[in-house]
Amino acid sequence: MSRRGETVPAFVVRFDGRVHGYLNRCAHRSLELDWIEGEYFDAFGEHLLCATHGARYAPASGICVDGPCGAAGLVKLPVFEDGGDVCLEAGDDIHLVNSDGIP
Ligand code: FES
Repeated sequence: MSRRGETVPAFVVRFDGRVHGYLNRCAHRSLELDWIEGEYFDAFGEHLLCATHGARYAPASGICVDGPCGAAGLVKLPVFEDGGDVCLEAGDDIHLVNSDGIP
């Protein structure tokens, strides 16, 4: 994912039957959330959990609900489903790129 010229990893989760996409960047220290690659939920499947210091985020909004992220939240991405595909509504400041930063 390229946002405002910076390449940032992102992820998509399904929660309550809907997809939600976020930059994979904790609001506390800008580190990736996953404790095992691709694992974002806490043990109860109720919150997105940062592996580093335990910040917890609401899966549908990205709002911090507990931990050192304070009033900040995850950066939510405009994703939607279309015929079984998860799509990104690209805007002027968000573009999909591969792991080498190439569109
Ligand atoms: S880096 Fe995520 S809670 Fe500190």
